[in-house]
Amino acid sequence: MRLKSWQVLAVGPLALILLALAACGGGDNATNTPTATGGSPTASGATSSASPLSGTLEIFSWWTTGGEAAGLQALYNLYPQVCPGNVTIQNSTIAGGGGDAARQVLASRMQGGDPPGTFQIHMGHELLDSYVASGDMQSLKSLFDSQGWNTAFPQGVLDIVSKDGIPYSVPVNIHRANVLWYNKKTFTDNGLTAPTTFDQFFQVADALKAKGITPLALGDKDTFESVQLLETTLLGSLGPDKYKGLWTGTTDWSGSDVTAALTTFQKMLTYTNDDHSSLTWDQANDLVIQGKAGMTIMGDWVDADNKAKGFTDSGWVPTPGTSGTYDALSDTFGLPKNAPNPDAVTCWLKLVGSKAGQEAFNPLKGSVCARTDCDKSLFDTYLQSAIDDWKTDTIVPSLAHGAAASPSWLSDISDAVTSFVSDRNVSTLQDRLSTACKTATVCS
Ligand code: GAL
Repeated sequence: MRLKSWQVLAVGPLALILLALAACGGGDNATNTPTATGGSPTASGATSSASPLSGTLEIFSWWTTGGEAAGLQALYNLYPQVCPGNVTIQNSTIAGGGGDAARQVLASRMQGGDPPGTFQIHMGHELLDSYVASGDMQSLKSLFDSQGWNTAFPQGVLDIVSKDGIPYSVPVNIHRANVLWYNKKTFTDNGLTAPTTFDQFFQVADALKAKGITPLALGDKDTFESVQLLETTLLGSLGPDKYKGLWTGTTDWSGSDVTAALTTFQKMLTYTNDDHSSLTWDQANDLVIQGKAGMTIMGDWVDADNKAKGFTDSGWVPTPGTSGTYDALSDTFGLPKNAPNPDAVTCWLKLVGSKAGQEAFNPLKGSVCARTDCDKSLFDTYLQSAIDDWKTDTIVPSLAHGAAASPSWLSDISDAVTSFVSDRNVSTLQDRLSTACKTATVCS
């Protein structure tokens, strides 16, 4: 079983499954031109809906950057083939990488009884501890049965979109959080090799700094970026088992190995651009593309960003200390109770989970399929390497992207990290992280 590591992750004090694994953009509309009026199989291979659909389908997400929007548009383009009729897609986006701003708007809409048709949400705690726990999502069991998804998705993925054996959302992808992206030309021009250890990272960083190049581009305007830098540093410093133990209470947050990891995090921050708090993750990547910075540590949506920007001179390695480990997250879509136009939503979900949908979306989004049967030849060199790594690496859950910790725990950690980025006090950070684990009732 490919995802046994995710299943191992699922054992913890909160619940068996829960532990395993967030500028207002306004909504613009994309009208679908129907391409079929019956229920016949489509050329794309996805199963088409039986009866014509109509009305508006609101799809809520934070996918606004070039590569994100391109992936989403590929799904919108396929929708009328799979879902015959005359549905108007309302592309509701709230800008902000990582989805913090989108999640706040979503929460107030859900509380106000005004759910969108469907919304982007991360697999794991972000989904299960929120709208599934509050009973606001519809069971997708019959959809999973009818679409053959109980075998199309790996068991570990099925477990993590389910509660008490009932699936509540459809995973469209798997992203990797622990990737160090670098400008190949900058590295070649300066005789540098991509670092795979923290020692190498700091040697390369010093060499870049000596040349007047920002070593590590950071854009933490949306907060998640510095949390993600912390998570990859914890992972690289502690190793996968102890990292996983942070989320199950078996690794002591106040231990000396965590102090060492936080001290490394502190040192890494000294190599970042001064304007990091005013930049987004993709603007940080621009610094790398322009050669103003040498590296950035970010998820593999950077691959999509590079593609959208026509940048082909990007190199990648796992973040320092994390070779052989896949720090994973997944974007999923579900069906809220009282969703408007549920038939149109259900057909969207069919598309999102289909081989055709995932093969159209993921090569543009910089992610790999959540399904096991996608055609690898459709993916670029980076993604082909990710497909291979996903099969063989140790899988660990991403903190910043809703897989490792409950939303409230993540919020406490994010606040502590935001303070730390200003005050750089390791001891205060460690205390706050220890307390956050206790508040989450994972640590005693
Ligand atoms: C993640 C999301 C990715 C990507 C990224 C940057 O949370 O899962 O799909 O969009 O944020 O916005």
